[in-house]
Amino acid sequence: MDVVGVIGAGQMGAGIAQVSAAAGARVLLSDIDLAAAERGKAGIARALERLVGKGKMASAERDALLGRIEPVAELAPMRQADLVIEAATEREPIKRRIFEEVGPLLSPGAILATNTSSIPITRLAQAAPDPTRFVGVHFFNPVPVMGLIELIRGLATSDGTVRAVEAYAERLGKVVVRAEDAPGFIVNRVLMPMLNEAVFVLGEGVATVRDIDAGVRLGLNHPMGPLELADFIGLDTCLEILRVLQIGTGDPKFRPAPLLVKYVEAGWLGRKSGRGFYDYAGAEPVPTR
Ligand code: 3HC
Repeated sequence: MDVVGVIGAGQMGAGIAQVSAAAGARVLLSDIDLAAAERGKAGIARALERLVGKGKMASAERDALLGRIEPVAELAPMRQADLVIEAATEREPIKRRIFEEVGPLLSPGAILATNTSSIPITRLAQAAPDPTRFVGVHFFNPVPVMGLIELIRGLATSDGTVRAVEAYAERLGKVVVRAEDAPGFIVNRVLMPMLNEAVFVLGEGVATVRDIDAGVRLGLNHPMGPLELADFIGLDTCLEILRVLQIGTGDPKFRPAPLLVKYVEAGWLGRKSGRGFYDYAGAEPVPTR
């Protein structure tokens, strides 16, 4: 993959752009407008600056990496890409619109991939120009740190597409696990019920935010407690994924905790909005309950 297109320059898209450029690809990074794409690149520059500050990256390497990332204002330049990865908001109509827009621009043989965390790949492939060259590649946050990619093939995805994406993942130094096209794939199917249960535990008054997180961090050796992690992922994203799991499986065990719904309705979305189960206004996050 010499040229990788990334659509969506938020946390995930910027991370994907960073690791692709670190692996030597030229990256076209797009978002709703040039300013948003440039903000994505600026975030990458800040992350790399920290690595340079810690002596983990030479400044020449940082400059070369940043030089390979080009923010773009529209999708037209994506015609140069061998692989286009969509990492936009986790809403099906938005993703479909992107595939319909970028599809006709793609060069013959180019692969279109989605970083969806839970929407069925076979269904999304209907909006792609060629479902044989459409695939799910699910990265984890923070992308530069997390070693995994879930690879999900739709019914029509070709073996060639899977092999090409596996080769790209290997270049990034990521381990690939393959999942069938089932709601939540592997990781979110396992993770989201735990995060949701932690919100039930909080909502029922069983324990405080601090104690729930310390319990899981120290009792299970997880790097983050479940409420801290839910804030990190974004409470709206967690709710969105739980709803996909609930509707997709029809299983009531995935029903979202009422407190999670309430927080999202309040606009308390976690780190990105400054408040979730913690308040992020100060130097250190403060538990809110
Ligand atoms: N680029 C390169 N390196 C980075 C980086 C970046 N953008 N951000 C962080 N790093 C590096 C740091 O340099 C640091 O390296 P070092 O240990 O060698 O010095 C290392 O990553 C850890 O960073 P920090 O010291 O800043 O922070 P912590 O040690 O507190 O770790 C964490 C932070 C990695 C986020 C850790 O708490 C963690 O692993 N949490 C769990 C994350 C998780 O579960 N993610 C999956 C979420 S689910 C998901 O994404 C799926 C979606 O569909 C919902």
